[in-house]
Amino acid sequence: MKPEERRRVGRLANDLKQRVENKLEEKAAEIRGRSLDSRAAQVAIDVSLPGRRAPRGHRHPLTQTLQDLVDIFRGMGFKVVEGPEVELDYYNFEALNIPRDHPARDMQDTFYVTDDVVLRTQTSPVQVRTMESESPPIRIISPGKVYRHDADVTHSPMFFQIEGLMVDRDVSFSDLRGVLEAFLHEFFGPETEMRFRPSFFPFTEPSAEVDIRCLICRGSGCRVCSGSGWLEVLGAGMVDPAVFRFVGYDPEEVQGFAFGLGVERMAMLRHGIDDIRLFYENDLRFLSQF
Ligand code: PHE
Repeated sequence: MKPEERRRVGRLANDLKQRVENKLEEKAAEIRGRSLDSRAAQVAIDVSLPGRRAPRGHRHPLTQTLQDLVDIFRGMGFKVVEGPEVELDYYNFEALNIPRDHPARDMQDTFYVTDDVVLRTQTSPVQVRTMESESPPIRIISPGKVYRHDADVTHSPMFFQIEGLMVDRDVSFSDLRGVLEAFLHEFFGPETEMRFRPSFFPFTEPSAEVDIRCLICRGSGCRVCSGSGWLEVLGAGMVDPAVFRFVGYDPEEVQGFAFGLGVERMAMLRHGIDDIRLFYENDLRFLSQF
């Protein structure tokens, strides 16, 4: 080319190269952007979708009831003590004023391990063990498992009791009544009506069974209270002087009261459960309701 032509064409060629490069860069940027957008669309999180919940556990209804019962008595100054479930005949019976061939043994169907060892049929042996190792004033409760050869909709071969014992100078039957009334009002509500019915236990004298007004029919009579309008909730009484003598206390010096209650029964009354076996079957359809 002629020199002046070469300059003109050279400038044109440079312009063209610049425009092509610009276009390429534009296009490349557009493509990069597009693939970013589509990747973002693929990994997008829909925050409105419901999450996967981790199942949350809770305490067993019997444990809940047991803890509530223990808390009430702890609030009244009772200390919690425990005793063995495999127990000497001596503590489960003899020291509670129930000699070997006494008909009162028939009140409880006992699982014997050997002639001298039983699965405890009640938490009352903890009364004796506590009095042997401590001196008055005593104010204890003792929750735990007990065993009886008995099974139907209201009885289980293993169930829970809470024992109560208070020993001091000048403890009277009205103290027993006051403590139990405060307890029942706290647990079942302040309107709960209660009554004491004369009864018999070999280790208390006098003895009583404590009833509350039927929670279902309010006293008019129904299936749950067998038409009586009352529900038995507790056994209780003044510690028999014979028991004090077994542990070396002087019955002329100290008096005491004792009571025993069934935890399953309390939970059944509180929740309107009519079959004790539901507590032990581990059926989540039942347990998840509490
Ligand atoms: N141990 C008795 C029972 O299981 C209940 C009870 C305890 C009664 C303490 C009086 C005093 O039937």
